[in-house]
Amino acid sequence: MKEAHSSILPIPTFGNLEQVSDAQLTRYAELIYQKTGIRISPQKKMLLSNRLRRRLRDTGIADFEAYYQHLKKLPSGDPEWNAFLQEITTHETYLFRDEVQWRWFRREYLAQIASDAQAGRRQRSLRIWSAACSTGDEVYTIACCIAGGLLNYQQWNITILGTDIGAGAVEQARAGVFGERAMRLVPEEDRRRFFVKAKDAAVWQAGPALKGMVSFRQHNLLEPLRLPPFDMVFLKNVLIYFDAASKKRVLENVRAAIKPGGMLITGAAEGVSEFLRDFERLSPWLYRRPATQRSTEVRR
Ligand SMILES: C[S@@+](CC[C@H](N)C(=O)[O-])C[C@H]1O[C@@H](n2cnc3c(N)ncnc32)[C@H](O)[C@@H]1O
Repeated sequence: MKEAHSSILPIPTFGNLEQVSDAQLTRYAELIYQKTGIRISPQKKMLLSNRLRRRLRDTGIADFEAYYQHLKKLPSGDPEWNAFLQEITTHETYLFRDEVQWRWFRREYLAQIASDAQAGRRQRSLRIWSAACSTGDEVYTIACCIAGGLLNYQQWNITILGTDIGAGAVEQARAGVFGERAMRLVPEEDRRRFFVKAKDAAVWQAGPALKGMVSFRQHNLLEPLRLPPFDMVFLKNVLIYFDAASKKRVLENVRAAIKPGGMLITGAAEGVSEFLRDFERLSPWLYRRPATQRSTEVRR
């Protein structure tokens, strides 16, 4: 009997690798909160343990405690921080997510600014920031709407900046390659005009018209962006991971980056209105900054 058993590989017990302890969870959650503003609830214990296990495997670090001590000492931009963030953040996104917003953007907003420019009420210039853009799907959707919906857009000075805390996400965004799932809501005509389908794979590459309008950089929303202000900021599906204090901090940074009279687009249920009391709420997801505020002002 004994001999028969000895040929079976021992079942790994993992010991303290199995799950983070409650004390470790608290320490990891605090570190993640300090660096990103994201709140990890106690219910995420299993999820966090699974994600951490992958980092232990890749780094060869022995256990959760040693990995925590290692991570804590690293500067935020370290590649291991990037790899860790990649594991713990949610990157779910796709082009033309929340179609009602894109209908409004294309048919109303772009039509309005085109008519304002025609009448000499504004310059042919448009600056848009997609904050927390993940793999860039939102950014290419903006570019696609502009290329397809703004008359003579080539004569405009257009900037579309996508930022995300995740280095891997930003790198992927720069590549501008999307699978069928991410592309499923892109209108047929836009696909044909602005994307190139790879011959052997079910992926689409953003074409030069879109790529010429977009740029990307890594940025943590807990920090100010320090760039000239934007006509419009998209801030969608990220505040849901933050508590009230981080939301407030992010929205102070974001509001400072919006021109007076500029727009903020959020998700429909992200609980932002209490932090934007001086903004005009045009719909559950659309806010306008008063035209009279200076763009550098940050209300505290
Ligand atoms: C679910 S995606 C949202 C993507 C896109 N905005 C959308 O609505 O489809 C959330 C993104 O927020 C990013 N994120 C989380 N915390 C962040 C922070 N503190 N600063 C910048 N980006 C952050 C994550 O890396 C992730 O890519």
